[in-house]
Amino acid sequence: MKGEDLVKRDFMKRIGVLTSGGDAPGMNACIRAIVRCGARNKLEVVGIRRGYAGLLEGDLVRLGPRLVANIIQRGGTVLETARCEEMKTPEGIKKAVQVLQREGIAGLVTIGGDGTFRGAMALAEAGDIKVIGIPGTIDNDVYGTDYAIGFDTAINTALSAIDKIRDTAGSLQRPFFIEVMGRERGFIALDVGIAGGAEDILIPETETKIEELCLNIRRNFKRGKKSSIVIVAEGDEAGGAFRIAQQVWERLRLDYRICVLGHIQRGGSPTARDRILASKLGAAAVDALVNGKSGYMVGELKGEIAFTPLKETWEKRKELDNNLLQLMKVLAT
Ligand code: F6P
Repeated sequence: MKGEDLVKRDFMKRIGVLTSGGDAPGMNACIRAIVRCGARNKLEVVGIRRGYAGLLEGDLVRLGPRLVANIIQRGGTVLETARCEEMKTPEGIKKAVQVLQREGIAGLVTIGGDGTFRGAMALAEAGDIKVIGIPGTIDNDVYGTDYAIGFDTAINTALSAIDKIRDTAGSLQRPFFIEVMGRERGFIALDVGIAGGAEDILIPETETKIEELCLNIRRNFKRGKKSSIVIVAEGDEAGGAFRIAQQVWERLRLDYRICVLGHIQRGGSPTARDRILASKLGAAAVDALVNGKSGYMVGELKGEIAFTPLKETWEKRKELDNNLLQLMKVLAT
């Protein structure tokens, strides 16, 4: 072993991992990768339960390669998660640093979205702790990665529901308004709209015009379409599926149905794609910590591992694929 490696090992003996914010399928595959790659690097890996809330309470569990067996296929997160208001305060940060120092945790991997990364960055700035973030959110709204862990599973889950809805929508010749998650962004709606062959998608990134939507629905039926599948992103500025459907009904008086897919989209066994992404990002995060990197999110851009300063992940805006949006409209004709 080279001298340089010895210094790195001496500094970093124990690392922690936590999942925070909304859970996402594939988080467990990521935890597994972190634990096993940690062991490979002779690091002790400590799991922090319930995200930052558990960190503040010192709710820790020692993890080893055998303890993360049989979790790669499970949805949710075995470490559990939380949304923690206290971590947004200077007192919370101070407390968290104290717990990490007391436990001898010199490196931390945080899996989640931008809220998770803000907490991670605050920790890196407040104490002598190295942090690496990993994007894990079904919303896929994190700058610095093409895909976040959980997104692929969520869109496939939504898709299988939409395929089923299409059967009944066509049989009874009804418009259906299907609301999908995504917070203030339309990434889920766009991908699901393309893959599900939707007639329309309503997303926060583009203005929703009810008159235009009505025109499309009417035109679709005139063209001989048996149904109209309208995907509504939960964050659309015109309101959720209920409000939009009501406005359409007031103009067209067409019998319609609404389906809010809700938290179904967050559960279930992760797809192969999410498991592979989670494994790659978990391994890259451990590697980064061992090499003294800190204050970055590790993601994947154009198939390559990419590091983005944590601050950029919330300061910069990830753009929707405009070409995909245009294509969706062409294909819906
Ligand atoms: O961020 C993931 C997400 O599922 C969003 O799509 C959704 O708006 C939100 O979390 C729901 O949060 P909760 O589970 O706290 O209701």
